[in-house]
Amino acid sequence: AFEVSLARSGTIVRVEPGETMLEALIGAGVDILYSCEQGICGACETRVLAGEPDHRDSIRTAAAHDQLGTIMPCCSRAKSSTLVLDL
Ligand code: FES
Repeated sequence: AFEVSLARSGTIVRVEPGETMLEALIGAGVDILYSCEQGICGACETRVLAGEPDHRDSIRTAAAHDQLGTIMPCCSRAKSSTLVLDL
């Protein structure tokens, strides 16, 4: 499990191994766009402010994400214990 810290609201959302980051965010009442939930549409793309993402989508390479400071929460996870998102 890892935690997602939401920079705008100050909310901390815990993501359990059996759920996606997107599911955890929606469960916490976060208003986030999404569509495919498979890492192929790009709708959920979110800015990462801190932490080390584990990119698993098919849209951008991990290097491109890290350069842009973005993540797809529908399928990607975290290598660090916390990710800070621009949400
Ligand atoms: Fe399609 Fe995340 S919802 S890439």
